[in-house]
Amino acid sequence: MGIFYDDKYKTFTLQTKDSTYQMKVDENKTLLHTYYGEKTDNTDKSYLICRMDRGFSGNPYELGKDDRTYSPDILPQEYSCFGTGDYRISALKIKHVDGSRGVCLHYEGYEIKEEKYSLKGLPAAYGTGEDVQTLIITLKDSVSGINVLLYYGVFEELDVITRAVEIVNGSISPVILMKAASISLDWQMGEYDWLTFYGRHAMERNLQRAEIVHGQQSVGSIRGTSSHQYNPFAIVCERSATEEQGACYGVSFVYSGEFLMEIEKDQIDQMRLVCGIHPENFEWKLDLGESFTTPEVLLTYGKSGFAGISHSFHKLIRNHICRGIWKDKPRPVLINNWEGTYFHFTGDKLVSIAKEAAELGIELFVMDDGWFGKRDDDNSGLGDWYPNEEKLGCTLKELGEQIVALGMQFGIWFEPESISKDSDLYRMHPEWAVQIPGRKPNLSRNQLILDFSRRDVQDYIIEKLSSVLKSAPVTYIKWDLNRSICDKYSNILPAERQGEMAHGFVLGLYRVLEKLHKEFPDLLIEGCSGGGGRFDAGMLYYTPQIWCSDNTDAIERLKIQYGTSFGYPVSTMGAHVSAVPNHQTGRETPLSTRGCVAMAGTFGYELDINRITEKDKEEIRRQIRIFKRYYNVIQYGNYYRLTTPYANSCTVWQIAAADGTETLVSAVYHHVCANAVPVFVKLKGLCEKAIYRLELICAPDEDILPAGGKVKFLEQGRRLSGAALMHCGLQIPIAWKEFGAWQIYVEKIEYVSPTEQGEAKGGKANISYT
Ligand code: GLA
Repeated sequence: MGIFYDDKYKTFTLQTKDSTYQMKVDENKTLLHTYYGEKTDNTDKSYLICRMDRGFSGNPYELGKDDRTYSPDILPQEYSCFGTGDYRISALKIKHVDGSRGVCLHYEGYEIKEEKYSLKGLPAAYGTGEDVQTLIITLKDSVSGINVLLYYGVFEELDVITRAVEIVNGSISPVILMKAASISLDWQMGEYDWLTFYGRHAMERNLQRAEIVHGQQSVGSIRGTSSHQYNPFAIVCERSATEEQGACYGVSFVYSGEFLMEIEKDQIDQMRLVCGIHPENFEWKLDLGESFTTPEVLLTYGKSGFAGISHSFHKLIRNHICRGIWKDKPRPVLINNWEGTYFHFTGDKLVSIAKEAAELGIELFVMDDGWFGKRDDDNSGLGDWYPNEEKLGCTLKELGEQIVALGMQFGIWFEPESISKDSDLYRMHPEWAVQIPGRKPNLSRNQLILDFSRRDVQDYIIEKLSSVLKSAPVTYIKWDLNRSICDKYSNILPAERQGEMAHGFVLGLYRVLEKLHKEFPDLLIEGCSGGGGRFDAGMLYYTPQIWCSDNTDAIERLKIQYGTSFGYPVSTMGAHVSAVPNHQTGRETPLSTRGCVAMAGTFGYELDINRITEKDKEEIRRQIRIFKRYYNVIQYGNYYRLTTPYANSCTVWQIAAADGTETLVSAVYHHVCANAVPVFVKLKGLCEKAIYRLELICAPDEDILPAGGKVKFLEQGRRLSGAALMHCGLQIPIAWKEFGAWQIYVEKIEYVSPTEQGEAKGGKANISYT
C-alpha cells in the first residue's frame, strides 16, 4: 500500500520503499507539491513552504488585499500553468478560442486504483496490483472548463513513481494545447547539479554534469526522434553526489519523439523541472469533449548515488517496460553482415558468413541493409519492402531456410519510416513523403520520411512488413531510421491541426509496432536509428534491445556504454565485435578487448568472419562460451561503474548478482604510461562475510603484455573475503600497451561466520587464502 490520502490535512502521500512524495490541496484548492525525497512519514510537509510578501510576485484576485504572501509565482506547484501568475517554466499552456493563453487549475477530486493505469496508444510501465498502485487527481480550470487528470503509478518496491497527464476539454469551445508536459516537479530547497547525456551520430550519450544555476537550462530534441544529440533521461543530484552516495533524482521520459527537459532555479533558489513533448513543433487542437494524453515520465529517488538510480531504472525497464517473450528469454548471440559486406553481398556470400558463424556458436544471422528493392547503395530503394531475388540469387524463404538449416535463426533489417525518391513506393505515392507544400524538402542520406501520422501509410507498412515476415522464417528484425525529421507537414491534416503532425508521427510509429507485436509475439525487434539515435524507454516497450551506436570501436564504446548505463540496462544495449582497423576510427584493438566490451550488452559480431584467422576464430568460440556461462549475471545483475572513461586510464565496470553470489569485473586500458600507477577498485554488491574465489577469465593477448607475457596478478583461484574486496579493493593488473582488457570472475564459495571472520583477520582461521 503506497498511496495515502489524509482528509484532515488534504495531503496525498506516495510511499515507496526508500522515498516519499507528497502533495497537498491548500486553502485555495491549489494542488501544491510539498515534498519528494528521502523516506519520511505521512504528516503534512507544507510547513516547509516559505510564504512572504515578495514584490512582483502577485496574488490571486480572490484573496483581495488580505494575503500578499500567497503567490502562484512562489508556491511549489504540482502541475504548473502558463499565464496566470506563475512566471517560472510551466507545464501547461493553452490557447483559448479568444486567443488568450491563461489557465489556472484547482483541485476537484481523486481516485485510487489497485493496478497500474495504461495510456492509450502510448508505451507505459506496466505491472500487477502486487507491484503497483495508481492515484488519479483531477484538477479543473473553472473559467474554461478544462479538466486535467494527473496520473501517478507507485512502484513501491522499486522506488519508482510514474507520472502522466490527461487533458480533457470540458469547455464549450475548442482549445489549442500549446504545451502539455508530462511532469512538473518543484524543489523548495537544495543546491543541485544535473547529469545529462549529449552526443552526435556515432558518439551518443556522453555524460555532462552541470551546476543548476539561476535561470533556465534544458536539453531536448526537435528532430522527430528522441535523438543522438540529447537523451530523454537525466539525474538531478546533490552537489556532493557520487556513484556511491548522495541524494539523486532520476527522470526518464517514456517517449521516442521530440522532447524538452527544462530546469530552472528561481529568484528564491527554488528549483523546477518540467519534462514532456517539445512545444516547438506541437499544437494540439481539442474539440469539446476531446482529450489528450501525454507520454509517461519515470521518476526515482535514492540517497545512495548514481548507482542506486541506475539500478532502479534497470529493474523497472527490464521488468515493467520491456515486454513479451524476450523480456526474460536469453537473447541470441548474433552476427550482422553490415560492417562485413555493407551493400555488397549475394545470398551465397551471406550463407558463407552464416556457415562459419554457426560453427563458432553464433545463434542468429542478421541480413542488414540492401536485400530489398533496388538498393546497392543508400540512394535508392527505401519503401520497396520486397526482396531483391536477383541480388540474393534466391527467394527470401530459400535464403532463410538455408540459414535455419545451419541451426541458426534468421533476421532482417528494415527502415519502415523512410522512403527514397528513387523507389517504386515514391513513384506510386509521392504524397506520402513528408514535405512542406511549395518547399523542397531537406534530404538526409538522400532520403525522405514517410508520413507515419497517416493511417493509410501505417496500414501499408504493417501489411508490407507482415507479408515479408510471413514469407520466410524470420525471428528477428532490426528497425532502423537513418535521418532526423524536418519539413513537418501532413497532407491530410487541416491547417489548424498541422501542429499535431510530429506527435502524430510517433503515435503512428507506436501503432505499427504494437500491431506487429500482437501479430508476431515471438519476434525479437532490435531498435536502431543510425545506431543510438532513438534510445529511449518508449522504444524499449516495443524493442527490448536497441543498437547502441554505429561506432563499434571498443575504446569509444567505453564512453558510449558508460553513458547509456546510467539510464538503461545492459540487456537493452546492442553491442558487437567488429573488425580492425575499426571502420569508424581506424583504431586497432585486440579481439579479446572488443569481446570484453561487447559483452556488456546484447552481444554479437559484425564482421566478415570468413576473413579472420584460425586463432581469432578460437577466440570467438571462447568469447561465446564465456558470455553464455555468465549470461545471467551480465544481463540481470546490478551494474556498477567503478571508474570513469573520462578521467581514468582504465575503465572498470562490474556486474554483480543481486544476491552477491557472483560478479564479473571487466577492465579496459585506454591509456597507458611509463612506470604506471596501479589502478585500484573497490568491488560492490558482495557479502562482506563470505569468501570469494577469483578467476581470471580474460587477459590481454601476450603480445601486448610486458616482455615474457608476465604481469603480476593474483594467482588463479585466489580467495578473498567480500569485506576485503569491497573495503580494501582489488588491483587491476597494469597494462603494458594500450587497449588491453581483463575480465575477472568472482564467485562466492563459502560463508564465514562473524567469529571465523574475526579470526581470519588475525590469520588463524581455517581458510586457505592461497
Ligand atoms: C544505420 C545502422 C547501421 C546499418 C545501416 C544500414 O546506420 O545504424 O547499423 O544498419 O544503417 O544502412
